[in-house]
Amino acid sequence: MIKNICCIGAGYVGGPTMSVMAYKCPEINITVVDLNAKRIAAWNSDNQADIPVFEPGLADIVFKVRNKNLFFSTNVEEAISKADMIFMSVNTPTKEYGKGKGMAADLKFIELCARQIAAVSKTDKIVVEKSTLPVRTAEAIRSILNNTGNGVKFQILSNPEFLAEGTAINDLLNADRVLIGGEDSPEGKVAIEELTAIYAHWIPRDKIIHTNVWSSELSKLTANAFLAQRISSINSISALCEKTEADVTEVAKAIGADTRLGNKFLTASVGFGGSCFQKDILNLVYICKSLGLEEVAEYWDQVIKINNYQKHRFADNIISTLYNTVSGKKIAFLGWAFKKNTNDTRETPAMYVADFLMNDLANICVYDPKVSETQMYIDINHLNSRTEEDNSKYLTMVSDPYIACKNAHAVVILTEWDQFKELDWKKIHDNMMKPAFVFDGRNILNRKDMEALGFKYQGIGK
Ligand code: UDX
Ligand code: ADP
Repeated sequence: MIKNICCIGAGYVGGPTMSVMAYKCPEINITVVDLNAKRIAAWNSDNQADIPVFEPGLADIVFKVRNKNLFFSTNVEEAISKADMIFMSVNTPTKEYGKGKGMAADLKFIELCARQIAAVSKTDKIVVEKSTLPVRTAEAIRSILNNTGNGVKFQILSNPEFLAEGTAINDLLNADRVLIGGEDSPEGKVAIEELTAIYAHWIPRDKIIHTNVWSSELSKLTANAFLAQRISSINSISALCEKTEADVTEVAKAIGADTRLGNKFLTASVGFGGSCFQKDILNLVYICKSLGLEEVAEYWDQVIKINNYQKHRFADNIISTLYNTVSGKKIAFLGWAFKKNTNDTRETPAMYVADFLMNDLANICVYDPKVSETQMYIDINHLNSRTEEDNSKYLTMVSDPYIACKNAHAVVILTEWDQFKELDWKKIHDNMMKPAFVFDGRNILNRKDMEALGFKYQGIGK
């Protein structure tokens, strides 16, 4: 029976996952650790607004279980040494240097994590890979753990996270499935059962799938690749719709009615963002290339290419519609996060569209309900080679959507926050330059309503 759990990494995956686990398993003590002391302090804050990950329902759960059976700490060694089971929820970004640059997953955080576990452990432990990892990473982890020389036995499980940001709590509480990959040996089976018993506190056992470690690792990459592929497919058709007077929303509805295809992940948009899709597909492409599977690599690479094309196409269209010049014009951005109900901005299409328009010297003014100005500048300064001074000259953030839109030549919707539908669009129109343009990168507004107010409206694929 597992009594003590340690989770390494207090980010978008580790934080929500462990909060729900602690809430559902009151008899298990869970300590979430992170090297980042500021992040841990924020998780321990008494103010709900300071919780570093914004997810609907998350802060309520944290406040119910924190310091009862859920703890946030920077003492990584103590938490590892007490734990019977350790979750690795550290980040695995795309490599930015050396071999595999721009494609392979950077495993330095995972390796460091494995070395810390190896150095500290005095008792047998089950180590669970939670972060999305390239297939066969468990082999590297095993090799590091088994060569410490202190005789401790480790079992390695793969238990990929399928939660989507913005709906993380609901996804965790009502998971479609839980995937657990483990070794086909008596010890492996025991470890699989220990983790299964934890999830069985709230997930029906028939939804808990057992596979070998490699299938589990590869299933995560494959699930994300298939989801992203659907978005790139509908986005490619959105370009065709714009040339033919077809309406992509109608097309999506028509094909989504075929139960074999289904109606999910068919919303045409300015492009997908987030921490997973691009990273995981690039990683899949890299693995295929490394194994000599050039055609397979090219096939999946095309999903990324369409996504990049869609972001550029959207930005290009803004420039050409605004009489081929945006130089010195104020452009309002509604939304910076990569989707609604999250404060995460990793790979957000907004930053690419902003960068493209800034090349043409537009003045961009952003409003986002949850993203901070500091985060926005981190994103843009990391993305481009302009000076920080230039970036802050052309890109600003305000805390009121009406101020963002005041005197703007165009309003651009980058994130589908519900509150954007409820804005007083007449007031916005009255205070904009004329003609007043709206570029709806998420198709959340109604063309007829907007045109009735006097806007020139363009959606995606319409
Ligand atoms: C994704 C997977 O859904 C999740 O299962 C996995 O564990 C992690 O990666 P996430 O990135 O949090 O989750 O969000 P998701 O809802 O999948 O959206 C990703 C991006 O695609 C967002 O930018 C979203 O706006 C965009 N999107 C999604 C579309 O453009 N159209 C759609 O129909 C769906
Ligand atoms: P994800 O979306 O995968 O959760 P995040 O970047 O939000 O990614 O979170 C990962 C967290 O893991 C970060 O807060 C980072 O500081 C932490 N981390 C990375 N390596 C280690 C380590 N060796 N020990 C403790 N924490 C780590």
